[in-house]
Amino acid sequence: MDRDLTFDADLAALAWQLELGADVALGETPVNRYDAAAPTAPAAPPAGAARPVATGPAPAAAPDTSDAVRAASEAAAQAPSLEALRGAMAAFEHCELKRGAKSLVFADGLPGARVMVVGEAPGRDEDIEGRPFVGRAGQLLDRMFAAIGLSRTAADPAQALYITNVMVWRPPQNREPTPDEVAMLLPFLQRHIALADPAVIVVMGNTPLSALLRAKGITRLRGQWAEALGKPVLPMLHPAYLLRNPAAKREAWADLLCLKARLRMNG
Ligand code: URA
Repeated sequence: MDRDLTFDADLAALAWQLELGADVALGETPVNRYDAAAPTAPAAPPAGAARPVATGPAPAAAPDTSDAVRAASEAAAQAPSLEALRGAMAAFEHCELKRGAKSLVFADGLPGARVMVVGEAPGRDEDIEGRPFVGRAGQLLDRMFAAIGLSRTAADPAQALYITNVMVWRPPQNREPTPDEVAMLLPFLQRHIALADPAVIVVMGNTPLSALLRAKGITRLRGQWAEALGKPVLPMLHPAYLLRNPAAKREAWADLLCLKARLRMNG
């Protein structure tokens, strides 16, 4: 790197990195954090040298997700409380996302609230703060629910929200979680819902829609009540989608009114 760069040029280079989407500072030498104790790679053999013949054990097969799903199901079933469930997730070592994330983003709001919101996964802001939906999409989510009298800070379960995500660890670069990652955390989400015991679940976006309802196509299915785990579920457009497509706020408003009507009907 050119060490003679001026302060302004350094700043501009940094701004450009941010523009490109860089959100973490890296050292100049790569570090394999998945394998901290890995021996350094042997020097490449000189050109033309015979390739060494592998004599060690065969490379490990790709991890079998069914083991992870089984471990998650057992751990989740044994959690008698939300606090215990959080601890069980913190001790769960099968999900690689955990190694790249700063926080386990478990939930926010009032456990026992009438409405439980399930989003996709923490983003950068959520990973830093350790709470779901605190970035721009989260601020929009708060405004949306405030418009029908619901808030994550309310003390009365009838006006409160309880908020979580399918994934508790941030996927790198905010990529979509893979089906395997969703499958291994689903038993925890199911237990989370059973313990929080909301009257109604709102699923925001495609990831919780397919995790809980095994359905695809949030733009088609939004606003249509369904049922999961014995509870009514309302699929809604994700607030991040609404930030990108402000015209769709009309549909989101219709869904919020539909939620409000259902809550009023149920007393
Ligand atoms: N998007 C989500 O789905 N969840 C969050 O917590 C933040 C953004």
